Amino acid sequence: MKTVLQTATLACLLAALPSVQATDAGNGKTLVDKHCTSCHDDSVYTRENRRVKSMEALQKQVKRCELNLGLKWFDDDVSDVVSYLNDSYYRF
Ligand code: HEC
Repeated sequence: MKTVLQTATLACLLAALPSVQATDAGNGKTLVDKHCTSCHDDSVYTRENRRVKSMEALQKQVKRCELNLGLKWFDDDVSDVVSYLNDSYYRF
């Protein structure tokens, strides 16, 4: 519960900052490192039979995993994570 509150507070702080770029892959990396490594490491993004095969599918999958975790990310956070995963692994 504490983590959820901290995440919500952080999300509010981040949302209050003026955003300079459309997406922020650095923020994406921070979010992935913090929330997305408990079930799978980054090998799921690079495995041979990976499921995500388009930018659209990547967006959907990030959203699905994020909702499963109950993180309540803003659309910007989802975009940042998508852009980080795409830059680092998928390269659509
Ligand atoms: C509760 C466990 C869990 C957590 C935490 C989790 N995921 Fe996942 N994720 C899964 C499972 C299960 C799959 C599907 C693996 C499979 O198909 O074998 C998956 C697959 C994925 C894939 C697709 C990989 C491929 O095949 O191309 C992406 C992208 C992904 N997760 C992103 C994320 C992100 C971003 C987060 C953090 C918000 C996250 N995951 C956190 C369980 C989790």
